[in-house]
Amino acid sequence: MKVAVIGQGYVGLPLALAAAEAGYEVVGIDLDGDRVAGLNAGKSPIGDIADGYLAAQSVYYRASTDFADVVGAEVVVLCLPTPLDANRNPDNSMMLSGANSVAGFLSDGALVINESTVSPGFTREVLAPIFGGHDLAYSPERIDPANKNWNLKNTPKLVAGLAEAATSRAVQFYSKFVSSVSSFSSIEVVETAKLLENSFRLVNISFINEIADFCSKMKIDVREVISAASTKPYGFMPFFPSGGVGGHCIPVDPTYLAAKAKEIGASTRFIDLANEVNISRPSYFVGVATGILGSLSAKKIVVIGVAYKPDVADIRETPAEPLISLLRSAGADVVWHDHVVGQWKGEASAALSSGYDLAILVNPHTGTDLDALGSIPILDTRGGY
Ligand SMILES: NC(=O)c1ccc[n+]([C@@H]2O[C@H](COP(=O)([O-])OP(=O)(O)OC[C@H]3O[C@@H](n4cnc5c(N)ncnc54)[C@H](O)[C@@H]3O)[C@@H](O)[C@H]2O)c1
Repeated sequence: MKVAVIGQGYVGLPLALAAAEAGYEVVGIDLDGDRVAGLNAGKSPIGDIADGYLAAQSVYYRASTDFADVVGAEVVVLCLPTPLDANRNPDNSMMLSGANSVAGFLSDGALVINESTVSPGFTREVLAPIFGGHDLAYSPERIDPANKNWNLKNTPKLVAGLAEAATSRAVQFYSKFVSSVSSFSSIEVVETAKLLENSFRLVNISFINEIADFCSKMKIDVREVISAASTKPYGFMPFFPSGGVGGHCIPVDPTYLAAKAKEIGASTRFIDLANEVNISRPSYFVGVATGILGSLSAKKIVVIGVAYKPDVADIRETPAEPLISLLRSAGADVVWHDHVVGQWKGEASAALSSGYDLAILVNPHTGTDLDALGSIPILDTRGGY
């Protein structure tokens, strides 16, 4: 059975390869010609996908920039980016462009599944008209880059179709390579479940960040507080402080829920407040750094770990970016160190040494050599300040 996966990024590539490994004939479509050429040459652009694994799937997998390759696919899965625009509103432009490109090449009887994160109602109200009478389903992706325990195959998958036939076809498709697939009564239930999961994380991480600031003023170790609270066997789940939530999902997806809420006159005050707390984290740490150094003017500062989370090279929405730019605006001489990211915004990762006035830890990776800092002051945004 032929499958087309539209978008070969963090979500679409692992999905396409898992489907190929299960025996589907898979074409991965992407607009990015360099990415497609690299994929066909066995070069993986994603840390979690080893070149060897990609090459091993070449019997059933190939990448293409040509939407005409969708012809003949029985299942077409959309894995397109849904970021925020410059005004922090949902940006559905890539989603719409990809969906419209696919629509012209759908074969009779093709099932379309959307995996991209969207506002509740989007799949039914916006995508269904684009795909005419084709079966349509929604199944959110839950991939957690660099997570060694949970992956595409063992993370339970949620599915709902516009009609019963689409639901059962989608369940059947995923069941070949995902160990647990559950179906629900409507697409909107599953769209909202995805946004609930990520809003839950944003709200709780922002909450623990406020608690961390409280503990800092009280001169209490917040990590010890969390560890103490975590001994409660029920009703508590630990979240950990940080320089701010980054990445393409947690700081972004809740705004897709909030946008829909605004449209229908419902309120999302927790999400709004969590966004406010999250966005203010970098400026909060500029204040802490100023408190440590007196003035930031001409002070040499190294920001360590600029990726949005440890052990990935992804810098989307990283809190390190506003942190560095605010420190520079305050007159500090700032470099950054990140051996996984390496190059970023025309700058290279700087060496670690004891020659700085201050080191600020954002997301240090496994293997970051903090001993090289000697005895300089370290501001750890993860709760050690
Ligand atoms: N990355 C994650 O951890 C994660 C987890 C859960 C859900 N999601 C959601 O999955 C969706 C995809 O995210 P991602 O992280 O894979 O994005 P990504 O940016 O890594 O990949 C998207 C790919 O789509 C390609 N593309 C863009 N426009 C296109 C078009 N019109 N036609 C064909 N290809 C096009 C891009 O070149 C890119 O390679 C988003 O809605 C995201 O919120 C992501």
